[in-house]
Amino acid sequence: MDWIGPGIWQGDALEAASLLPLDSIDLAYLDPPFGTGRTRSGPLGRYPDGWQGAMAHASWLVRCCVGLWPALREGGTLWLHLDARTVHHARVLLDDQLAGGTCRNEVVWCYNGGGLPKRDFPRKHDVLLRYVKGKDWTFHPARQPYKANTQAVGRHSSRARRVAIDLGRGTPHTDWWTDIPTVTGWAPERLGYPTQKPLQLLERLIAATSNPGDRVVDLFMGSGTTLEAAARLGRCYLGVDASAAACDLAARRLRPWQAAAWPVALEGVGTGQAGGTAEVGAQVTSRRRSGVTKLSTKAATSKRPIGKSV
Ligand SMILES: C[S@@+](CC[C@H](N)C(=O)[O-])C[C@H]1O[C@@H](n2cnc3c(N)ncnc32)[C@H](O)[C@@H]1O
Repeated sequence: MDWIGPGIWQGDALEAASLLPLDSIDLAYLDPPFGTGRTRSGPLGRYPDGWQGAMAHASWLVRCCVGLWPALREGGTLWLHLDARTVHHARVLLDDQLAGGTCRNEVVWCYNGGGLPKRDFPRKHDVLLRYVKGKDWTFHPARQPYKANTQAVGRHSSRARRVAIDLGRGTPHTDWWTDIPTVTGWAPERLGYPTQKPLQLLERLIAATSNPGDRVVDLFMGSGTTLEAAARLGRCYLGVDASAAACDLAARRLRPWQAAAWPVALEGVGTGQAGGTAEVGAQVTSRRRSGVTKLSTKAATSKRPIGKSV
């Protein structure tokens, strides 16, 4: 596991999960490779996305979630972003494996663009599983404006039919989101990292399921979308990725937001033994040209075992 400055770690998701202190994070978002069976590449990065079958893929993801679960505080939220390939397998396993966890939503994110198969309906949605820990979870229902035709004809309460609804308040977001486009080739936020997610998507779910000042963790951060969204909303962030290119890109992206980084690893730097809030022993092995510090945690000690395997 390497550390690239506060808030960004280069390494394996499962290992990173095991290093996080107990009850230390408020929100986790995991957007792993979906198991498309091909290498995903873009101008600024690439990552392998192999396929060993739905059950093997889901089992690996569930190990990551179970490994992270003790670090999530009571009332916290874990989001797992998947598509139709493995979401059902993961849901069944997670319902069984996350002690004290409940799946409160399967949010369906619908989008357009991409290829059109000839012999199937085009698959144009992802599913985001929303798990909460305990009974008193954070949730801030957000509203959106009513559609133009509803605004034109007005709307009445379903209980007392004649009471007109104040349309100015808007209507709550449901669990199917159709208003957030993918990051297209011409989108201003596009960085060139494959499968980059839209900031609007991350901002919506972070705003709804965390509070300002909360700690947000992404174990598959890619270009760092979650981290930027967290920083914009006044949360602290920690991002992990196995790819050096992703970490470099995220580090550049997050430079204006460094104050929001959660410096969990750096508190133990150089001690070679457990220390700081993360109780991780880390060693400085090199300094990158960009000025960010790269550390190695070969001497790292984890205070707890990795979650049980499926
Ligand atoms: C779907 S992409 C994440 C995209 C990201 N949400 C964004 O908006 O840019 C999945 C990421 O998981 C990373 N990854 C794959 N296997 C990993 C592992 N075992 N541990 C940590 N990261 C991993 C890949 O390098 C890739 O960047």
